[in-house]
Amino acid sequence: MSGNSDLLDQAKAVLDMNDRGHYTQPAHGLYPHQWLWDSCFVAIGLRHLDIERAKAELLSLLRGQWSNGMFPNIIFRDDPQYRADRNVWRTWVNPYAPADVMTTGITQPPVFAEAVVQVGAKMAWPERRLWYRLMYPKILAYHQWLYQDRDPHKEGLVLQIHPWETGLDNTPPWMSEMHEHQLPLWIRIIEKTHLNSVINLFRRDTRSVPIDQRFSTIEALALFDMQRRLRRKAYNINKILDHSLFAIEDLAFNSMFIRANSHLRDIAKSLREDLPDDLETMMTKTEKTFEELWDQYSGQYYSRDFITHRLLKTPSIATLLPLYAGSISQERADQLVNMLENDHVFGPAYPVPSVPLDSFWFQPKLYWQGPSWVNMNWLIIDGLKRYGFDDHAKALTESTLEMVAEGGCFEYFDPLTGEPAGAANFSWTAALTIDLLKSK
Ligand code: GLC
Repeated sequence: MSGNSDLLDQAKAVLDMNDRGHYTQPAHGLYPHQWLWDSCFVAIGLRHLDIERAKAELLSLLRGQWSNGMFPNIIFRDDPQYRADRNVWRTWVNPYAPADVMTTGITQPPVFAEAVVQVGAKMAWPERRLWYRLMYPKILAYHQWLYQDRDPHKEGLVLQIHPWETGLDNTPPWMSEMHEHQLPLWIRIIEKTHLNSVINLFRRDTRSVPIDQRFSTIEALALFDMQRRLRRKAYNINKILDHSLFAIEDLAFNSMFIRANSHLRDIAKSLREDLPDDLETMMTKTEKTFEELWDQYSGQYYSRDFITHRLLKTPSIATLLPLYAGSISQERADQLVNMLENDHVFGPAYPVPSVPLDSFWFQPKLYWQGPSWVNMNWLIIDGLKRYGFDDHAKALTESTLEMVAEGGCFEYFDPLTGEPAGAANFSWTAALTIDLLKSK
């Protein structure tokens, strides 16, 4: 019991330390700006401590919403020392970008509706009604933008144009596509001539975190090159797709989108609002088309290429997120849970690894290529509960809390040993620890 209250105090201290007034930075130094899904997870923890601060966290995301409905993945801090970060994006090239704050031109997984509902759950109905009234049009505009811009063939799944949009930056299915099809000649030359070791000297992220816990420099360069190509197309999806830049219907993103759609439906219902008919039709279609991501031979879901519909058969933590989507059959959910139970796949001592242990990609401390992340565990716990796996949900809650109690509020953890890695004092680890403790 006292262990739990120590953990709670530690987590609260991290959220205080990272408080930047109207938002919470993910971590000092490495992540000074406001990130979209980070703030959503932070609000889910803050609601237990300070409902006003939780609301402010989400309200401050509205500053960045584009007039076409998109929520950008980052709102930049207005501070001269970060001018270079902001200028890389130059989002003023797009007419929908806000004029008074600087943002990126891409999004991140749609967990905004989840955060709105979780924060709302802490309010009595009259107050929650006002909260929903305020947030409903924003969520609606976001989901309409996702369909409008990111599902141009009206097939039901939404596409992503950069690995950063998945939130799982260097996740294997994207990285293997990138290495195969997206490395421009100049990056291949750097790779061949080993110039990357020189470039390593200039990386900012590796000043805070050891280099073997981050991207390779080749991958980092490729990500920035892709960002530059998106900028050249002014973040305009038609131009981007015309030039057949990278486009993937990501499994993790679409799983979270399905869940977000069902939250949007619930919010509309409680406000006695009717969702637009075409949106309803698309939401139903999404759940149906999602099943095309299932591969009957390996018994799991995958991301797929937007143009060719080829499944990208490289498993990752996304494999388990259809549990969180909540739209899949009990039978398929059972099959996913089998993988979670298996010590050689997703069930090491400190689950859930971001890549299965038997994968060629698995490296226990390398960012989204092996370590366990608390936000993924939180989503999977939620999914397990909804499919009736209460004991599994309880066990995963306990092991997650143990991992954070032993290692501290780090960004990620070695799934074999529980050793912490990445940034220290990481906000979503702290916030979701609070939520797991309070929801036990
Ligand atoms: C990294 C993560 C991303 C997160 C950001 C800020 O880029 O991959 O998911 O939002 O850091 O914490």
